[in-house]
Amino acid sequence: MDTITEQKKISLRNVDKIFTSDKGEVQALKGLSLDVEDGEFLAIVGASGCGKSTLLNLVAGFDQATCGDVLLDGDPVTGITPECNMIFQQYALFPWKTVQENVEFGLKMQRVAKGERKERAHRFIDLVGLNGFEASFPHQLSGGMKQRVSIARSMASNPKVMLLDEPFAALDAMTRQVLQEQLVRIYEKHRKTIIFITHSIDEALLLSSRIAVMTARPGRIAQEIVNALPHPRNADVQLSNRYVELKRMIWDSVQAEVLKSMEVETQ
Ligand SMILES: Nc1ncnc2c1ncn2[C@@H]1O[C@H](COP(=O)(O)OP(=O)(O)O)[C@@H](O)[C@H]1O
Ligand SMILES: [Mg+2]
Repeated sequence: MDTITEQKKISLRNVDKIFTSDKGEVQALKGLSLDVEDGEFLAIVGASGCGKSTLLNLVAGFDQATCGDVLLDGDPVTGITPECNMIFQQYALFPWKTVQENVEFGLKMQRVAKGERKERAHRFIDLVGLNGFEASFPHQLSGGMKQRVSIARSMASNPKVMLLDEPFAALDAMTRQVLQEQLVRIYEKHRKTIIFITHSIDEALLLSSRIAVMTARPGRIAQEIVNALPHPRNADVQLSNRYVELKRMIWDSVQAEVLKSMEVETQ
């Protein structure tokens, strides 16, 4: 078979991650394998503490696996690369920089010339609907606006992979819905490879093309589900038999793992 067509954008092969501290060892991931195709929108759901952020940190190159392989385009991830960009729940904006400066930051690091930096920042500030807020500072913005700045900053540096770690978890339901719709639009237009972590099954179903459920800690992939629900995933889709069926299936899987994690904690 042609090896090029087999090449995955991201590949985790039998990955273990053990944290060692003075309190002892914590095995966060054990034997985790997962493939993500180029241009895929993968959502990962799983109980709190099962290793979701750990997995994302390995892909981003913030941390290294204890054993196993973490591959990006077939090459081992050995450190942070501009190809992968992380968006966190807590915005991680520079409080002393304006919206414009925050969005330009990654480009400055990439030594993009000033004129182009300005133009690209402007384009992505526009994309997330923050025209007119270029000179504002993060403390002058709502949570939803701050997260839009994070998305604009990420998009401006043109990463191949966007890693989102519960990015909308701290937002109210209405803002969250607006940002979800915006993210789907951005994804459809730019087709990045996305790994999106959420503890909301509805959010996973609304956004993704595939959903992976993680086991309780030590985390690995318990189940992978293709999500071929039609777009836009409006109220009609959410009331469809297929949606309800998928939601129940994922819920059963997540619930079984939550119960297992509670058993682990009381041991
Ligand atoms: N730097 C670290 N040192 C020690 N333990 C850690 C560290 N990071 C995470 N852990 C532990 O690893 C497990 C998985 O954490 P995490 O990946 O943050 O879970 P999730 O994102 O699914 O809630 C947890 O038990 C957590 O306490
Ligand atoms: Mg986490």
